[in-house]
Amino acid sequence: MRRLEGKIAIVTGGAGGIGAATARRLTSEGATTVIADLDLERARAIAAEIGSGATAFHYDAESVDTVEALVASTVARFGRLDILLNNAAITTPQIQREDSTAVDITFETWDRVMAVNLRGYLAGCKYAIPEMLKVGGGAIINTASGSGLVGDLSRIGYGTSKAGVIALTRFIATQYGRQGVRCNAVAPGLILTEAAKESVPELIEMIQNHVLTPRLGKPEDVAAVVAFLASEDAGFINGETVVCNGGSLAHQPHSHDLAQYLEGRG
Ligand SMILES: NC(=O)c1ccc[n+]([C@@H]2O[C@H](COP(=O)([O-])OP(=O)(O)OC[C@H]3O[C@@H](n4cnc5c(N)ncnc54)[C@H](O)[C@@H]3O)[C@@H](O)[C@H]2O)c1
Repeated sequence: MRRLEGKIAIVTGGAGGIGAATARRLTSEGATTVIADLDLERARAIAAEIGSGATAFHYDAESVDTVEALVASTVARFGRLDILLNNAAITTPQIQREDSTAVDITFETWDRVMAVNLRGYLAGCKYAIPEMLKVGGGAIINTASGSGLVGDLSRIGYGTSKAGVIALTRFIATQYGRQGVRCNAVAPGLILTEAAKESVPELIEMIQNHVLTPRLGKPEDVAAVVAFLASEDAGFINGETVVCNGGSLAHQPHSHDLAQYLEGRG
């Protein structure tokens, strides 16, 4: 399928698991893709692996000036911008430890999480939308998370930022949809990136018990949703959040316990 022929795309957090898979997918569908990340070395390696059609760019989502430079340099080099995937998120082990509960989280951690995960997305939209309007519209996709849909025992900043991403998506669609900008979100459940495979072995088993598919999610599953939302196949979809989690929020919270209970009764 080459639904994105001639399109210019930016993928933020493009050096990470989901971002890299999406950069590969968008490029394979014909887009020229800018892989933007804090980790320039890794972004360059992924761009080199993809080959012609992909380039790397260094930016920091926490610094809005660099987000502006990312959009400006993309347009200066390729002449236009059609697709933006806002996808970078702060996932360092230190932040994961410190982003805890309402009582324990520091305001510093909260502010950093919001700056990267939410303000960074707003900045992407703020600078990309005028460029998209110049060419009659475009597609923005924001990576949210299941953590933005339900509560959890830790990561209050992360979950709140992702709920904000879902709201941001609806506001952008409402404010610019009639001028041709479609803005949708994808909300992944646990996706087995290389990092996720290493960091949460016990959690993976717990989550597996609640997924309604025989396997867990892979970065390519999210990439496929993004490519669809970026394409004209999704031309009448705006302001939506597509949940990509194997159905893990689609059932009664007690379904797994009930299945075990019924099994135990024979
Ligand atoms: N993997 C999952 O299970 C999962 C589930 C739900 C949502 N998500 C979301 O998917 C997106 C991608 O996650 P992933 O699993 O690929 O994570 P990842 O850690 O592999 O990738 C994140 C990327 O963002 C980059 N980044 C971090 N801070 C940055 C900054 N300040 N400026 C620019 N780039 C920065 C990192 O260098 C990294 O390449 C994130 O928004 C995440 O919240 C992931």
